[in-house]
Amino acid sequence: MRFVDIIDKKRENLELSNEEIQFWIDGVVDGSIPDYQTSALLMAIVLNGMTDKETAYLAKAMMHSGDVIDLSSIEGIKSDKHSTGGVGDKTSMALGPMVAACGLKVAKMSGRGLGHTGGTLDKLESIEGFNCFLSEEKFIKQVKEIGVAIIGQTGDLVPADKKLYALRDVTSTVRSIPLIASSIMSKKLASGSDTILLDVKYGEGAFMRTVQEATELANAMISIGNSLGRNTMAMITDMNQPLGNTIGNSLEVIEAIDTLKGKGPKDFTELCMQAGEIMLMQGKICSTKEEARNILQDAVKSGKAFEKFKEMVTYQGGNVKMIEDTTLLPKSKFITEIKCRKEGYVEKIHSEELGILAMLLGAGRAKKEDNINYGVGLKINCKKGDKVTTEDTICYVYHDQELQDEWIERLYEAFLISNTHVENDPLIQKILK
Ligand code: URA
Repeated sequence: MRFVDIIDKKRENLELSNEEIQFWIDGVVDGSIPDYQTSALLMAIVLNGMTDKETAYLAKAMMHSGDVIDLSSIEGIKSDKHSTGGVGDKTSMALGPMVAACGLKVAKMSGRGLGHTGGTLDKLESIEGFNCFLSEEKFIKQVKEIGVAIIGQTGDLVPADKKLYALRDVTSTVRSIPLIASSIMSKKLASGSDTILLDVKYGEGAFMRTVQEATELANAMISIGNSLGRNTMAMITDMNQPLGNTIGNSLEVIEAIDTLKGKGPKDFTELCMQAGEIMLMQGKICSTKEEARNILQDAVKSGKAFEKFKEMVTYQGGNVKMIEDTTLLPKSKFITEIKCRKEGYVEKIHSEELGILAMLLGAGRAKKEDNINYGVGLKINCKKGDKVTTEDTICYVYHDQELQDEWIERLYEAFLISNTHVENDPLIQKILK
């Protein structure tokens, strides 16, 4: 097989075979196909797309390019949930323990944050001692014993994705539905769960800008998952404003804890409930949404959901005292209240900009090597559609350094206040299977 013929075929918009895609991924991993040839193929894929069949072949070849986690020794259905990344997205920290308290097994591998979106691992690490890097053996043992673990990637999972992503980043070939779908799904498939719930975000703070684009991506991922025997479903959710009220590591841990105790923000709580319903049905714990909602609410009310979170923190070496008394979590030196400058209605809250502003305070990384300041961030005090006056606080800034005027101006500009009433958008737009 000559790789140039494969590039040629894709340039002519013809369907690649399983063997041709396998040949490509083998060559990427062993280095026998040079980057310039892979780059040419990537661009041909961006321009001509891939069929569902090709996309599934690609995801499967990538999944098998490295280690594949075997969760079969854990009894029952193992479930995973993945978000395509958003501002203020602390879902895994609340949802994992919540569904585990209802009897579901959650073996979850999460990532770190980069740029305007935070990562679950960084958030959990704001709890002193929390260990995100368990061996595969300890990870499996924990899920067997308490039903939930959230860790960083173990072993050498999907090395093909690491190489391809680095190339895509510098050849303007990231934004392609088949490439994004196969990249995400290869990692989900390699991490071994039986069911996958995808939270595909759309809007300003997200990869996909519109509901339509997010739906296309979700359908591509569902098709990959189902063709490889994993029950895969997706929610399409709004990222045109931050999820919940907080952005920043320890602030988000506190919000996740509040939600586990039934005192979380309305939008975030509803997301957890609807995601939980789907996961409990995928995991065959419940057969209807109503039944699932009841046991989820029960887990929260009875304190079992919060207890499960505490158990997870204990197993992973974290300081449980910080969870029982969240004032012990890292906190910033200063809290500055930001009052609204004019009366009106909140028309827009620019989530991507708020994510960047939180990162500039130290809550996130601009570069991979940057350190995180766990205590800083933003607490947003309004939602789209709210009526506000100059008496109202729109936001609290948690910071360690003095706030620069330019930074404060950018913060004000992130909130668009209009004279006419605007409706808030539904957070969950669609559920797909
Ligand atoms: N996230 C991934 O893991 N891969 C992509 O291609 C895009 C987002």
